[in-house]
Amino acid sequence: MKIGNFQIDAPFFQAGLAGYSDTAMRLVARRHGCPYCITEAMLDILLLNGGKGRRPAELDDDDHPIAGQIMGAEPQTMARAADLLVDLGFDVIDVNLACPVKKIRKKLRGGHLLGEPEQAVAILRAVREAVGERRPCTVKLRRALDDDSRSAEAFHTVLQGAIDCGYAGAVVHARTVEQKYQGPSNWGFLRELVEQYRATPGFFLGGSGDIWGASDIFGMIEHTGVQLVSVARGCIGNPWIFEQARAIMRGDHAAADRPPTIFQQRDVLLNHLAIAARIHGEFAASIMMRKFGIRFSRHHPDSEQVRQRFIRSGSLRDWHQVVETWYARDGQGNSIDQAMPEEATPALCPVVQEGDPTPLRRFEASSSRNSVR
Ligand SMILES: Cc1cc2nc3c(=O)[nH]c(=O)nc-3n(C[C@H](O)[C@H](O)[C@H](O)COP(=O)(O)O)c2cc1C
Repeated sequence: MKIGNFQIDAPFFQAGLAGYSDTAMRLVARRHGCPYCITEAMLDILLLNGGKGRRPAELDDDDHPIAGQIMGAEPQTMARAADLLVDLGFDVIDVNLACPVKKIRKKLRGGHLLGEPEQAVAILRAVREAVGERRPCTVKLRRALDDDSRSAEAFHTVLQGAIDCGYAGAVVHARTVEQKYQGPSNWGFLRELVEQYRATPGFFLGGSGDIWGASDIFGMIEHTGVQLVSVARGCIGNPWIFEQARAIMRGDHAAADRPPTIFQQRDVLLNHLAIAARIHGEFAASIMMRKFGIRFSRHHPDSEQVRQRFIRSGSLRDWHQVVETWYARDGQGNSIDQAMPEEATPALCPVVQEGDPTPLRRFEASSSRNSVR
């Protein structure tokens, strides 16, 4: 799989996840086989102001290849932020036209720019011109602002704008901005998109939405034809998803269904903490690791009790005590099915059958866990 002029050796990556996907989470993911990561969306203005606002753009030597994702409202500010990210050593510059958060009504940014396609294309063009041939540029999009037909048209204006400006590819989250993270991701939309843009030379299409387990990565590729899959909520507290995906690539499907043991979970928790403490200092790391502990607890056979203990941990000492108490003896972790997050929903996926009047069906093909979804 090629992104501009460089190659990644597996068709998936760790998505931007604001509040989670910092350097520590990315390094843990890479140790489990993730070939490529994107930062969370960084506001152009904060990056340019420097100081604390630039901290999310500080890079670790082992954290490559990596895309720096920027978000903003004005073409020239976005262009300057893109230039800065090149100087800071990012391998790819990614433009966020997907974030559903609406903070400043008059200043549209993220996914809300899909309602102003000319402005969105102006931003894409300014970023591309600032970066030039120094780095590939990519864009993250939602499938539309909402389900209005004008929204659908605007999406294609923006995507074609990216292609015309020489972007290397786009990752499309197949929910609307209005949907935020609710309801199924529309994989049927991704499939139609791939059919429509397949012939575009040097431009890849990636997909996002409803990747909860390693088998979903290959389910999305199989059912939509995208070349790259974004792993998002499915990897929070679950770096094993990358290992399992690599196992599937080797044809080792049994390994892909084998959950992490309690000792494997403990090792990753401690490793994540050590990296976070090195990067953020112990105090900030202890705050972050509370929420990661809560997310990791779903793999533990006593998941609810462990979750409650992590929720109640108010210091690094408490956090260590949870690990020492609940991860002291080895044993089987929860099965992949039992460890599914509560918000896991199946994607909407077309099942092509002759005479079938309803082209969209719940995706079932590559999943063995429909009973819990
Ligand atoms: C907490 C959270 C933070 C996110 N932050 C970002 C972000 O900064 N940049 C981005 O491109 N997408 C972001 N996303 C969207 C995800 O990358 C992904 O597109 C979305 O969660 C759909 O995939 P999923 O259904 O497999 O989780 C975020 C999602 C969540 C849940």
